[in-house]
Amino acid sequence: MTIKQIEKLKTPKFLQQIESTLKPLEFLERCAKNCGDLFFINSIGELEILVVSHPQDLQELFNPTNKILAAPAAANEIFKPQVGENSLIVQDGERHQKQRKLMMPPFHGERMVNYGQQICEITQQVVQRLKPGQTFIARHISEAITMKIILKIVFGIDEGLRFKKLENLMTTWLDLTNSPLSASVLLFPPLRKDLGSWSPWGRYLRLRQQIDDLLMAQIWERRQVQSNHFDILSLLIEAKYENGEGMSDAELRDNLLTLLVAGHETTATAIAWALYWIHQQPEVYEKLLHELRSLNTPDALKITQLPYLTAVCQETLRIYPVVLSTFPRITLRSVNLSGYQVASGTYVVPSIYLTHRREDLYPQADKFQPERFINRKYSPYEFWPFGGGSRQCLGQVFALFEMKLILATIVLNYQLKLEEKSPVKPARRGFLIGPQGGVKMSLVAGTPRYTNSKFKIQNSK
Ligand code: HEM
Repeated sequence: MTIKQIEKLKTPKFLQQIESTLKPLEFLERCAKNCGDLFFINSIGELEILVVSHPQDLQELFNPTNKILAAPAAANEIFKPQVGENSLIVQDGERHQKQRKLMMPPFHGERMVNYGQQICEITQQVVQRLKPGQTFIARHISEAITMKIILKIVFGIDEGLRFKKLENLMTTWLDLTNSPLSASVLLFPPLRKDLGSWSPWGRYLRLRQQIDDLLMAQIWERRQVQSNHFDILSLLIEAKYENGEGMSDAELRDNLLTLLVAGHETTATAIAWALYWIHQQPEVYEKLLHELRSLNTPDALKITQLPYLTAVCQETLRIYPVVLSTFPRITLRSVNLSGYQVASGTYVVPSIYLTHRREDLYPQADKFQPERFINRKYSPYEFWPFGGGSRQCLGQVFALFEMKLILATIVLNYQLKLEEKSPVKPARRGFLIGPQGGVKMSLVAGTPRYTNSKFKIQNSK
């Protein structure tokens, strides 16, 4: 019996690295077209990596009873300077499992509902600053909203000096990783040289230190005042491991930064895309407005259960998943995928983008059609914008909750207009894929216009 060999990309390694950095979607599509459902690439360092995207293969790999995949911390080393050595992202094995178990509850269940009103208020607060007729970049608005959400709901910081300082510092710090020069410093450890506050790495470290100091002050304060706080930091302080101990200050600090890094720009980018699609297709906008207006008392829970709004968010995350693939995995034993034998110890990067672009699952996959999610239920191996298995996105429920409430608040209260002359294309921004240029829009005069609801928020001064 002959053993079938998995295709390897013929392109030289350095060209693969350049193409996958500059044109990641075209790169993946070309690979899939030439090699099929399963192929090896060399786009990250010297490693040979298996790209998987067929739902059956994903099911085989991610099914927890199969115990095929590990999510090695070593593969996430690159994030250490950002999130610190105690972060969930850079743990694996038992420590990772324990930390996840401790961090999961605040992001689920009824607690979410407490945050609903705050999310809508923050959204109004940011959008109200726009003047009628003013042109703006949607991603800037969604970033401002999700940053305030992190500060208030996750870190538990009330508006004031610490809030303002952290907001400015964290925005500047995150922006550093979005420019190609600073991103390359982060990506290539040999370039990480502290040559003073003017050097990219030096600036990065100094900003990080200032953020650390403010976060430690916040953690210290929260530890002193026990009750009546519903922010995620307070819940994390109260949470205990099985041995009865809680997280150390350093663990709390690194995981607050993790939630910022993992949860801020991802959600903001998804919202910018959603605003684009909603305003690019008048029928989508009309349907959505109709559905939102059909709620007599639009409270947070009812809004998040609306089928069309849910489908709009799902289709947004399908067509251009903000994160193209999961964190790298490694096989713990040999496994048969699509008729090929994959050896134990193989590095695997499951591709969310390629699954979401399969014509057999999503006919006319390049078209934005929320109805496909109304007409069909997709399995977690067919639609999976938040990854899968042991490292599946910790904040996925929170992210969708945020997305829906922010979009609902904007669509119900304001009339926006798309100011893009041609279709907006996806482009790399740091580790994410977002709308090129961030989506130019304007606020139409005569808004806000919807006042008869719980979401009637007092005008901010
Ligand atoms: C639309 C928004 C978001 C998208 C598309 C997204 C997507 C992802 C993906 C693809 C992963 C990797 C999963 C894997 O390797 O299998 C991930 C991991 C993670 N995400 Fe999200 N995410 C979003 C928002 C958030 C939010 C709001 C938070 C928290 C506030 C968050 C926290 C995390 C954390 C902590 C991890 C690492 C989990 C671990 O290592 O165990 N994410 N996310």
